[in-house]
Amino acid sequence: MKTVGYYNGEVCEVDELRIPALDRAVYFGDGIYDVAICENRKAFTLDYHIDRFYNSAKAIDIRFSMPRDEFRSLLLSLIDKCDSNDMMVYFQLSRGIGKRKHEYQDMEGALLIMITPFTMGDMRKKMKLATFEDKRFLYCDIKTINLIPSVLAAQHASVHGCNEALMHRGDMVTECAHSSLLLLKDGKVIAPPLDEYILPGITRKVVEEICAENDIPFVTRRFTVQEALDADEIIVASTTKNISGTCEVDGKPVGGKDEKLLSRLQDLFQERLDRETK
Ligand code: PDD
Repeated sequence: MKTVGYYNGEVCEVDELRIPALDRAVYFGDGIYDVAICENRKAFTLDYHIDRFYNSAKAIDIRFSMPRDEFRSLLLSLIDKCDSNDMMVYFQLSRGIGKRKHEYQDMEGALLIMITPFTMGDMRKKMKLATFEDKRFLYCDIKTINLIPSVLAAQHASVHGCNEALMHRGDMVTECAHSSLLLLKDGKVIAPPLDEYILPGITRKVVEEICAENDIPFVTRRFTVQEALDADEIIVASTTKNISGTCEVDGKPVGGKDEKLLSRLQDLFQERLDRETK
């Protein structure tokens, strides 16, 4: 198959999928999701994504009776059906199907999976960012499908000729519209704390693991927009981008002061990716 779509047991091409209007994802955005990638037909850090998927569902009380192993096998069997070598694997669980009513009871989650060909960009290419006030509510640590602020932030970046939004609450940097944000400063990686203001990114987690394995200091603390602008490098990290440096924020040059550490992290990241997917 060119693409693989799945909805509650039915399998077809993604553009043939039909979702019932009474799926709570349709009218409440009441659901959670995750995104993983495959290279050479092998999924990267799939178990981390599955763990986060189950954690997100639990955090907002969505019932998903499928055991974890069964879900994993389902994903792998659908990945197997796709003709492409490199794919994006999107999985979503809504609270379920029922009449529009805010309260819910006795519902089983409705599962949607979309597998599409995907080519990763070159992570060594530098990003341009546009600053954007982060107006999300305080469930940012849960990967819910309510993404209006992120959509607006990404659009703001795009119309300003940028690849991503650098989001901030007042002075405090949170993350990007659909990526984590890390700094390099004085030989250290600096990452915001994992609280309700940001998503616990899997790519960031891999960076943290790489740092631990290679004696690179990884410090968790809040930082301001000004600190980001003054950092040696600003790193944008996500499943669909890996880890990239940044050359501009709001049209002004940034980073470029520790290419050595940036490139070492990228090499180590690539090694990890190759280990799991080659
Ligand atoms: N976005 N922060 C936000 C708000 C995100 O939406 C994402 C991922 C990340 C990075 O997380 P990870 O390293 O696990 O991909 C951080 C995905 C790719 C998306 O919504 O398409």
